Amino acid sequence: MEVISKTNKLKAVLRKTRCAGLEIGFVPTMGALHEGHLALVQRARESAGVIVVSIFVNPVQFGPNEDYEKYPRNLSHDVELLTRLGVDYVFAPGVDEIYPAGFDTFVDVRELTEPLCGRTRPGHFRGVATVVAKLFSIIQPMYAFFGQKDAQQAIIIKKMTAELDFPVDVRICPIVREPDGLAMSSRNQYLSPEERAAAPVLYRSLQRAAAMILEGERDAATLRQEIEKELAREPLARPEYVEIVETQTLAPVEKIRGETLIALAASFGQTRLIDNLLVSTP
Ligand code: PAF
Repeated sequence: MEVISKTNKLKAVLRKTRCAGLEIGFVPTMGALHEGHLALVQRARESAGVIVVSIFVNPVQFGPNEDYEKYPRNLSHDVELLTRLGVDYVFAPGVDEIYPAGFDTFVDVRELTEPLCGRTRPGHFRGVATVVAKLFSIIQPMYAFFGQKDAQQAIIIKKMTAELDFPVDVRICPIVREPDGLAMSSRNQYLSPEERAAAPVLYRSLQRAAAMILEGERDAATLRQEIEKELAREPLARPEYVEIVETQTLAPVEKIRGETLIALAASFGQTRLIDNLLVSTP
C-alpha cells in the first residue's frame, strides 16, 4: 500500500490504473477509522480492482465553534488498518494541497443542506460537498462508498453527483453499530464513560419507533413524540432534533408511506451524535 500526499502524484498513479483497465473504488474519510469505515472498504473491495481511501480532516466542513482542532487524528494507526485490508492507495493530503492560497470555489447543494443538521451546522454540507467534488475530480473513481449513518450527507452527495454529472456510482452502506446499538462514529471516543453508557438511547428510541411502525403506526407526530419520550428518559441526552422526512427532499412527512427517514441528533456533554432509521412501508 502506498500513502500519497500530493495531488499530482496520485493523479499520475491513477491515470496508469485506469489505462490498465482497472476500476477504482473510493472511500472518503476523515481518518480515526472504526469498524464503520472498514466495512466501507470491504464493500469497495467487493466492487473494484483498486481501492483508494482518502484521509483528510476537512477544515471547511467545521464551524468556528466546532471540533476541527481536537478531531481525532492517528494516521499511522489508520494506515496500519488499511494495509491489513489490502487497500492500494491512501491519499492523505495537507490542507494546502486541497485548499491552496486563494481557493474560492464552493459547491452548494442549497435546499437539502438547510434542514436537519444544516440548522445548527450552517456551511457544514457546503464544506462536505466541496471536498467530495474535489476528491471525485482528483481520483475519478468508478464507485464511491459512504455510510448511511450520515444520512443527510449521503442524500446531498447523491444529488450533487447526479447534478454535476460526476460519472461515479455512489453507494450508501448500512450503519455499523456497537453491540449495544450505538452507531459507530469517530466522535464516540470523546464520550466520558457515563455519556458512553447513556448514548445507546439514540438507537433505543429509533427501535421503539420501528416497533410501532411494525405494529401499524403511521402518524409521524405520534412516532416523533414517542422517540422524544424515550430520549427524555435519559438525563444525559440533550436532543437537538427528531425529524421524520421524505428521503429525496428531506421535507417533513405527516404519514409514513414508502421510503421515509427518521433522523435525530442529540448531545451528550460536549459531544454531538446523530443516528437514523430508514423505513420502507407499502
Ligand atoms: O463523512 C465524512 O467522514 C466526511 O464528511 C467526508 C465525506 C470524508 C468529507 O470530508
